[in-house]
Amino acid sequence: MSDKSARLTLGNETWDLNVRQGSVGPEVIDIGSLYRDTGMFTYDPGFTSTASCESKITYIDGDEGTLLYRGYPIEQLADHGDFLETCYLLLYGELPTRAQKEDFDFRVSHHTMVHEQMTRFFSGFRRDAHPMAVMTGTVGAMSAFYHDSTDITDPHQRMVASLRMIAKLPTIAAMTYKYHVGQPFVYPRNDLDYASNFLHMCFAVPCDEYKVNPVLSRAMDRIFTLHADHEQNASTSTVRLAGSSGANPFACIAAGIACLWGPAHGGANEAALNMLTEIGSVDRIPEYIAKAKDKNDPFRLMGFGHRVYKNYDPRARIMQKTTHEVLAELGIKDDPLLDVAMELERIALSDEYFVEKRLYPNIDFYSGITLRALGFPTTMFTVLFALARTVGWIAQWKEMIEDPSQRIGRPRQLYTGAAQRDYTPIDQRS
Ligand code: SDX
Repeated sequence: MSDKSARLTLGNETWDLNVRQGSVGPEVIDIGSLYRDTGMFTYDPGFTSTASCESKITYIDGDEGTLLYRGYPIEQLADHGDFLETCYLLLYGELPTRAQKEDFDFRVSHHTMVHEQMTRFFSGFRRDAHPMAVMTGTVGAMSAFYHDSTDITDPHQRMVASLRMIAKLPTIAAMTYKYHVGQPFVYPRNDLDYASNFLHMCFAVPCDEYKVNPVLSRAMDRIFTLHADHEQNASTSTVRLAGSSGANPFACIAAGIACLWGPAHGGANEAALNMLTEIGSVDRIPEYIAKAKDKNDPFRLMGFGHRVYKNYDPRARIMQKTTHEVLAELGIKDDPLLDVAMELERIALSDEYFVEKRLYPNIDFYSGITLRALGFPTTMFTVLFALARTVGWIAQWKEMIEDPSQRIGRPRQLYTGAAQRDYTPIDQRS
């Protein structure tokens, strides 16, 4: 308990509420006893000023534009480590030793196959089903296969379920893609690293030798690292809330996938590329900037703005660098969409509307151009986001389950509907 407190005065009554300080970032006013003491709730739709939990996993400084995974800056992890090292860090809190990393890589790579019976799920979907619909269904269905890792009270089962999802999400995502394009599934290979294995499962075909381009697999791996975790965003909060009821881990992650699908959240990478395609050329940018600023027009610049970042999203900077690397490696000299994106960013960052509202490119602004260059259709972009975010969802779910103060999440409301009234028989209604 800190020695600071916040005094609440209502009429002639006052209450002192405890103020808590984290290791970095804003202090919090602990209102856990507010309703009991005052008979009142707080009101904060969208949770713009509400901390839902205590966490040690990820920290964002929105004003500075910094992102830390367990204290390590995202730039350093993206430059020097790989995605599975980031997975270990998010799950266990420390960077692995060489022996720990080798053991973790081995354990993940030897859980990449899915139950053969799962392949029959896909044939139940239409080929043109949105891949995120398929992912939501098949990941939720994992709880119908892996009964030996659904008891959330057993630490060993929690660990097994965590490893299974980190290992099998790429396989399920690749199967989703293959089903979507009408090609046969490709089994995982234990001799390939995580990102190379994923690209191989997506782009290898039986009639040809597929060699993974190391520059492209390094870019894919870095993209996974950039998307791994991000504090209590909408989908992570969904996973925590689902987990607080005791639901099994596969169901919780499926809930996170469903939430991530929305265009205001993880669906923004698909929406951003569709927007850049619709704009089409640099000379049409002013028309779309005007639409984004028009209060009567629901259009927003997809890939711009963020609830927390009021500065440049550090992930967007790394993504932009990765975009140039991938296009250069593929010999794509001038991608018209990249030209539109860079000119749109330049104009927006100098426009008073965006400056005043502190709207900057976020991770989704450049990721679509990169993923399209890697060979993915836009409908697969959010699937890749979900694949990478699975480790963050699991780490946050695990932290919640292991938090002794954890209770089922059950927000209250400000009720403005009808007060109690009596039933009127239908023949007396006008
Ligand atoms: C992700 O939370 C996370 O951490 C998410 C994420 C993660 O890793 O998990 O970072 C991933 O979801 C990134 C965000 C992807 N979404 C988009 O790119 C969609 C476009 N962006 C917006 O819809 C919006 O910026 C949000 C949803 C991201 C944030 O919305 P907020 O914080 O609720 O802000 P707001 O909607 O209240 O906007 C504040 C003002 C409004 O104007 P006023 O009503 O105050 O006059 O800024 C305007 C908005 O109209 N605004 C935009 C805009 N985003 C906000 N105007 C034009 N274009 C935009 N993109």
